[in-house]
Amino acid sequence: MYVESPRYTERFGSVRINDIQKVVALDSGLKSEIPPHGAMGVVKISEETIKDFEDRMAIVVPVKDERLKLFEGVISGIPHDCLIIVVSNSQREPVDRFRMERDTLNQMCRYTNRLAYIVHQKDARVAQAVKNAGYDELLDENGVVRNGKAEGMVIGLLMAKLAGKEYVGFVDADNYSPGSILEYVRIYAAGFSMAKSPYTMVRILWHYKPKLSGGTHFRKWGRVSEITNRCFNSLISSRTGFETNIIKTGNAGEHAMSLKLAELLPYASGYAVEPEELVSIFEQFGGTLPAGPAAVVKHGLDLFQIETRNPHLHEDKGTEHLGGMLLVGLSTIYHSPLCDQETKRLILSQLTIQKALKPRQQPPKPHINRPPSEINIREFTKNMEPCLEIYSALYEG
Ligand code: GDP
Ligand code: CO
Repeated sequence: MYVESPRYTERFGSVRINDIQKVVALDSGLKSEIPPHGAMGVVKISEETIKDFEDRMAIVVPVKDERLKLFEGVISGIPHDCLIIVVSNSQREPVDRFRMERDTLNQMCRYTNRLAYIVHQKDARVAQAVKNAGYDELLDENGVVRNGKAEGMVIGLLMAKLAGKEYVGFVDADNYSPGSILEYVRIYAAGFSMAKSPYTMVRILWHYKPKLSGGTHFRKWGRVSEITNRCFNSLISSRTGFETNIIKTGNAGEHAMSLKLAELLPYASGYAVEPEELVSIFEQFGGTLPAGPAAVVKHGLDLFQIETRNPHLHEDKGTEHLGGMLLVGLSTIYHSPLCDQETKRLILSQLTIQKALKPRQQPPKPHINRPPSEINIREFTKNMEPCLEIYSALYEG
């Protein structure tokens, strides 16, 4: 794969924020005549390097009642060497959609001779392991894991840790294009290979084609991202004293991290999860609040924003929730101790303009699940490890 080299990097405390890098070519061949680094602003990431990172990566697929054909397509696009971890919150009755997902995954794993895990978000054993680990905020009033993509992601990354992986990436289950999934994961690998620090995150910028995929959803989504990014940039500017537009992936749904970093971040419920990760990175490592773990400050943290070649073709579930999406995303910035008065004013005015908030209302505080590093992960592992096999897609029981 060829990717534009990280040409422009802004520093915010210990965080190295790289500007958008485009994928130049999806494949770079086997022969290596071209200098691997720095040739005309392009980085060559060899197939070997990509496979090496894929082998150390788990791909978590959160899914809730998606069309089975889409789910099937998505898992077919995940590179063979990655460990697939499906966390499903799909219905069990009257139609057992979870069972259907499990069967689909089972078939793919049997045909292609690979390992995958699939776990239901309401699984009693998972709930018990979470409880024993002291991760109570992840549970609802019935004592099972709360609804939500973010909570599914947390279960996924705990499973990735349990399986001994070093990296975790996320892909949504409602993507129409298996080829895009393949590209996302290759981009994750490419990003990790460029990182100087073991604490690293790769966020995807979709190359979306609004006309192709029917209109308003993408226009509105584009608007939500634009506003979120503007607020992030205002936040950084207020601290550094310099105008910036470096953040372009504030809402990125598709992203990946080293587990070392993933453990240090809190996970906000709902659509707040991706912005909250960034907020927390800036709080802990932006250099203006008391710093997070010294190891990160020492190594720094590499943030990559990489733009895909494939257009983003995604299930259109209508546009109603976009106001809500903006609201919860911006509320993570608003309620951060980093947030200055000017950024707060910007957030309030944007939310009222978009009719996501009434005048003089405050955005609600997001529900935050603590960083996994603050819970007793060993207890979670101790509870889950003996029965890990049950969650294998190949398990017959
Ligand atoms: P959008 O694409 O950002 O509008 O959000 P979606 O509603 O499409 O959700 C993103 C992904 O998370 C999709 O793959 C959903 O199936 C999945 N998802 C949504 N809610 C839940 C949930 O409660 N639990 C899990 N595990 N996945 C969920
Ligand atoms: Co979606």
